[in-house]
Amino acid sequence: MSGFEDAVAIVTGASSGIGRASAERFAAEGASVVIADVDREGGEETVERIENDGGEAMFVDVDVSDESSVEAMVEETVDTYGGLDIAHNNAGISPSYAPTADVSVEDWQQVIDINLTGVWQCLKAELPAMVESGGGAIVNTASIGGLVASGSAPYTGSKHGVVGLTKTAAVEYGGQGVRVNAICPGVVETPMQQQASEDSTEAVDAVTGAQALNWMADPAEIANAAAWLCSDESSFVTGHPLAVDGGLVAQ
Ligand SMILES: NC(=O)c1ccc[n+]([C@@H]2O[C@H](COP(=O)([O-])OP(=O)(O)OC[C@H]3O[C@@H](n4cnc5c(N)ncnc54)[C@H](O)[C@@H]3O)[C@@H](O)[C@H]2O)c1
Repeated sequence: MSGFEDAVAIVTGASSGIGRASAERFAAEGASVVIADVDREGGEETVERIENDGGEAMFVDVDVSDESSVEAMVEETVDTYGGLDIAHNNAGISPSYAPTADVSVEDWQQVIDINLTGVWQCLKAELPAMVESGGGAIVNTASIGGLVASGSAPYTGSKHGVVGLTKTAAVEYGGQGVRVNAICPGVVETPMQQQASEDSTEAVDAVTGAQALNWMADPAEIANAAAWLCSDESSFVTGHPLAVDGGLVAQ
């Protein structure tokens, strides 16, 4: 894929799952990648895996729900690598399911702070840096819960919000050379999904079975889509929430 050679990329939530797969793919394509996460141990492991494969990466400790932490992440990226060309805003959490009327205010607020405000704060800090670098490409991780009701109210609400933020930023920054898209994964085999299976195997089996391709995706299958959306091959695609969901929302 073209567009990664000499590029600088940030991937949030890159200590695990989809973010780690995406960071490894960006690095394999030639980008210098900032592994940004609250989990230092997992992040350092991602850096080591990339370096063992001959790639360039560094870990930055970030809490995406904290404005100054996100600003510092972008500052450190620009200071170290000289600019910012690509970002995958992927960090997120999925709480145990509860019906809408049973969700606590604390659970609601935590999911919105990380999944939705976190993506907005990343966009807020990344967009000016990308404009300054002459343009770029951003992909935000939403979910099938960003397209249809899937998961709890705060999760589905936050992910629909991510799709809305993606469209808004795409419209506002297209003229300045920045494309902004979202990916909407179905069921992906990651630690987050493992936790959901421990909470309720039946619920996870039901969603997996509702996919036309009724298996759990490998994180690399999601990273393929993220890489394409950040590459030059998708140069006329912006503001698009791409379902990478084994055909779930087609039904
Ligand atoms: N696994 C799935 O089936 C699935 C499906 C659809 C969407 N998603 C989305 O994909 C994204 C990645 O999920 P995953 O399945 O790889 O989960 P994961 O739990 O394996 O990875 C999530 C990562 O985000 C990090 N993180 C959490 N809160 C953070 C914060 N405040 N600041 C910085 N980093 C933080 C975690 O430390 C972890 O490394 C999430 O946004 C999730 O909602 C996952």
